[in-house]
Amino acid sequence: MTNGTLLRWIWRDYLRPHLPTLAVALVLMTIEGGTQGALSYLIQPMFDKVFVGGSASAVVWVALAVSAVFILRASASFGQRVLMAMAGERVVAAMQRDLLAHLMMLELGFHHGQSPGALIERVRGDTTTLRALWSSMLSALGRDIVALISLLGVAISIDWRWTLIAVAGAPILVLPIVRLQKVVRRTSRAGRETASRITTRLDEIFHGISTIQLTGTERREGARFGTDLNHYVRAQIRAEAGSAGIPAMMDIVAAIGFAGVLVYGGFQIIRGEKTVGEFMSFFTAIALVFEPLRRLGAVSGAWQVARASLERIRGLFDVRPGIVTPASPAPLPRMLGIEMDAVHFGYGSDPVLHGLSFTAEAGKTTALVGPSGAGKTTVFSLLTRLADPQGGAVRIGGQDIRTLDLRGLRGLFSVVSQDTALFDETIRDNILLGQEGVSAARLDEVLDAAHIRDFVAGLPQGLDTPAGPRGSGLSGGQRQRVAIARALLRDAPILLLDEATSALDAASETHVQAALARLQKGRTTLVIAHRLSTIRDADKIVVMERGRVVDQGTHEELIARSGLYAELYRLQFRTEGATAT
Ligand SMILES: Nc1ncnc2c1ncn2[C@@H]1O[C@H](COP(=O)(O)OP(=O)(O)OP(=O)(O)O)[C@@H](O)[C@H]1O
Ligand SMILES: [Mg+2]
Repeated sequence: MTNGTLLRWIWRDYLRPHLPTLAVALVLMTIEGGTQGALSYLIQPMFDKVFVGGSASAVVWVALAVSAVFILRASASFGQRVLMAMAGERVVAAMQRDLLAHLMMLELGFHHGQSPGALIERVRGDTTTLRALWSSMLSALGRDIVALISLLGVAISIDWRWTLIAVAGAPILVLPIVRLQKVVRRTSRAGRETASRITTRLDEIFHGISTIQLTGTERREGARFGTDLNHYVRAQIRAEAGSAGIPAMMDIVAAIGFAGVLVYGGFQIIRGEKTVGEFMSFFTAIALVFEPLRRLGAVSGAWQVARASLERIRGLFDVRPGIVTPASPAPLPRMLGIEMDAVHFGYGSDPVLHGLSFTAEAGKTTALVGPSGAGKTTVFSLLTRLADPQGGAVRIGGQDIRTLDLRGLRGLFSVVSQDTALFDETIRDNILLGQEGVSAARLDEVLDAAHIRDFVAGLPQGLDTPAGPRGSGLSGGQRQRVAIARALLRDAPILLLDEATSALDAASETHVQAALARLQKGRTTLVIAHRLSTIRDADKIVVMERGRVVDQGTHEELIARSGLYAELYRLQFRTEGATAT
């Protein structure tokens, strides 16, 4: 990505809305920059009229003028910084908001390939480098360039030859600065990547803290974290050294120019060709020039650092969501029979479903059974378009689901998935998920059906007890019941149950199964269950193995055929029978 592309994008999408604020800030910066020139200009009368000339009236006006310039500079600088912070913080916030909205549109395939930590680092870390860029880049544009021009103006007005001598060394800097910029860019990029790795590691460690403690791998994790930190520290130091190298080189060149002027100008004053005031004024101007010049030099470093981050952010924005609503979506079907038609699918290059075909009749219950890894959960992901098949089609009511409105399609489903996410809010909010206008009676009914009431009654704040981060305050079975309550409340026409009651005790399971059975009446339902006793009564059982349908029929038919299902059933029956006796 070129500098131009990145700058145009930032300008168009993020800076332009703040144009008025930026314009005022820029004006204030210009004033601040101009005061530098004014100050150096006032040095001349100070020396020539006051110190050398001994004029009493000049003392007063020079003093007044100097104070005025300082007050002006103070107010301009204050206003400018506040305005810049306003625009800067808002731009960063806007970018974070946009990035999150964009990331939430991207499909399962994208998110499975990314670690949450790395994404967090991009949303939170990379966007903030933009804030640093702001202050340095825009103040450079406003204050520093104006300061540079006004100071050089003063210097040239005193003696252009002196000025030329002072800046004669500058061209030497071009090549080293270009090289340094490359170093800074490279190390910044490496630094950002390491920062992602560090956040990923932390995310994994805190998620897996009990596994780490149980397996005694604290030292291993600590060491891995330490290695990443070392890489990060090294990259940061190199980037900083590169950034600092540019103004440092300017200082050296400045010193040479200074010495030149001192020798050349010194002799002119001795010969009486120039006044002391002129020399002091010039000297001040040139001395002051180096400050904005160094800052301008630092801008190129800051830009390289920010660029590494901007490229990473832009890279994410450039990932187009693969699963979207078509331009003119077909109306949602009324009959909600489901058909998987020769579906091929794989998460990466390895195929998971190989031409999978089956139908689930509208209003009936269809069960999916089969060994772990057979692809049952994958079927649910394809039905809800969390992922799209690579071959074949998924249809609902005869309509290819890719022709439907995405939100509308997902609205057709109530899903209890194998690993439902709970959020760090109250149990009530976890069930409602923002649904408004749910009556107390309706909520009671759902709590009852999902068998939540008895465990909630024992909690200090009842339904308003916080569920903890990712629902960690609840047991596995309690979390599952919250997930079931969500699905019951959603009351959508198609029900997808993926091991929905696997974590419940026998008493709760019986109770919840009865509630689910009531819910299933008249709804198209797909059930995944390992415990075959729970799906015996399904209208149809589809037996899957390694991404294919190997058999289907009712429980009785499948038992009579003595295939995979009959074998699985017998195995379970034997173990369950054994524990019973
Ligand atoms: N996010 C993923 N990335 C890569 N491969 C995946 C992913 N999710 C599932 N798979 C693979 O797809 C295959 C089918 O997985 P799926 O979750 O559909 O199985 P399942 O039948 O639901 O198994 P279980 O009964 O254990 O839940 C597995 O072999 C698994 O390795
Ligand atoms: Mg599964």
